[in-house]
Amino acid sequence: MEQSLFKRALSVLPGGAQGTLRREFHSISPLVVSRARGPRLWTIDGQELVDFHMAFGAVVLGHSDPDVVKAVSEQASRLILHGAGVSDVEVEYAELITSLIPGARGVVFTVTGSEAVMLAFRAARAATGKNIIVKFEGNYHGWHDYSLYNVRNPISKAGKKAESGGIPSQVASTVEVLPYNDIEALRSFMYERGDKVAAIIMEPVAHSMGVVPARKEFVREAERLARTYGALLIFDEVITGVRVSLRGLQEYYGVRVDMTILGKGIANGLPVAALVVNEDVFNLFEEGVVVASGTYASHPLSMAGGLAALRKAVKLDLDKVLWRIATEASKAVGDALSDARVTGAVSQFGGSFSLHLGLKEPPRNLEEALKADLEGYRKLVAHLRRTGILVSPNPLKRFHVSASHGSDEIEALYSAVKSALKNIFTRSS
Ligand SMILES: Cc1ncc(COP(=O)(O)O)c(C=O)c1O
Repeated sequence: MEQSLFKRALSVLPGGAQGTLRREFHSISPLVVSRARGPRLWTIDGQELVDFHMAFGAVVLGHSDPDVVKAVSEQASRLILHGAGVSDVEVEYAELITSLIPGARGVVFTVTGSEAVMLAFRAARAATGKNIIVKFEGNYHGWHDYSLYNVRNPISKAGKKAESGGIPSQVASTVEVLPYNDIEALRSFMYERGDKVAAIIMEPVAHSMGVVPARKEFVREAERLARTYGALLIFDEVITGVRVSLRGLQEYYGVRVDMTILGKGIANGLPVAALVVNEDVFNLFEEGVVVASGTYASHPLSMAGGLAALRKAVKLDLDKVLWRIATEASKAVGDALSDARVTGAVSQFGGSFSLHLGLKEPPRNLEEALKADLEGYRKLVAHLRRTGILVSPNPLKRFHVSASHGSDEIEALYSAVKSALKNIFTRSS
C-alpha cells in the first residue's frame, strides 16, 4: 500500500511530500505515515519506527499525548473557530507564556514560526525606523523571503545567497548575513552599518548545522551592540523554547531580548507559534502601528491543545526531563561510535543532539559542520530506518527526544547505530 500511495503522492504533491525536508525521507524508501503514539510511529504498511525526529522537534511530550488529545477533542465539541473577539483558552495560554518568558509583556499568536519571525521583523522596523536585519549563517528562521539566506551555504563560499528561487533581489539589501559565533565579524559590521540595523536575530542554539550553541560572549556582545546602535535583539527559540528551557535562554546567556519567537515545543505538535514581546513592542501592536492578522491565528484547537501541553510541561519540569533523556540518548550514540571505532562528534544541548561523523570536536559554525562526513551520515540514517529508527536524513539536522522516550528506545538506538556504523565503515574501508 505504501508504494502505491507514494506513487499517487508523487502525481499530486511536488516530490511526494510537503516541502523539501520531508521529501528527503522518501530518498531512503517511500515513507507514508499512518499513526504515532508516544515515541513511536507506524507506516501505512505497519512498520513500527522508534522516532528520534519527533516532527522536527515539535513533539516534546510524546505523540498524541492523552492530555493534549483530550483538551483538543473537548474544544472541538465546544468551539472550533470564532473569528471574533478572543477565546478563554487564548487568554489563559497567553498569560502562561507571558509568565514564563523573562521581560515579556505579552504575546502575538501566529500559526507558524515563519509568520512570527516576519511579524518580529515588521515590529523591529516599525520600532526603529530602520530596515536591515542581521542574521547568522546556518541559522534558520522560517521559509519566508526575509531571512532565507545562507542556511546551508556558507558566505565564504557562496556569498550572500538566498536559499530559494523567487526571492526578490531587493530583499537582499535588507538582510545582512554574518558568520555565527564570530564576535569580530559582528563588531566590524555594526561599527560600519549599525545605524541602519533594525534588529539582530539569532538562534541561541543553532539547529540547522547540528546542535551548535552560541558562545556566551558572542550573545552578550550582540546585546551590547544592539543597545549601542538602537537595534532590537530577537531570540528565535522555536526549537529551544521548552525543548531546551521552559523560560527560554535569556537567563542562561545573561541577556535581555526585546522579542522571543516560540513555536514547536509550546504546543506538542499543534500549529501555533508565539511572538513574545517586551513593553515597547507590545505598545506598537496595541496602538495598531504594527498590524497582525490571520483567520487561523489563535485557533481555538491550537490554543486549547497548546495550553494543556504547556501546563503539563511546566508541571513535569519538562526541560529538565528532556535534558536528562537526551543526555542518555546522546551518550548511547557516543558509546556506539567508540564501540564501532568510528570517529564522530556528538553535541547535545537540552532535548536535542547531533552527530557529525568524521569530526573530532563538535562544530562551532556552518563551515566546520560542512566538513563532516555528510555521505556517511546519510548512509547511517538509511541503515537506521531499515532497522526501525527514524531520524532526519539531513546531516545538518539533529535527533530529538520526548518525555515518552525511555530505556527501550535508547537501547534500540545504541544497537542500531553500532551495527549500522560497523556495516558502513567496515565495508567501505
Ligand atoms: C529556529 C526556527 N525558527 C523558525 C522556524 C519556522 O517555523 P515554522 O516551520 O513553524 O514556520 C523553524 C522551523 O523549523 C525553526 O527551526
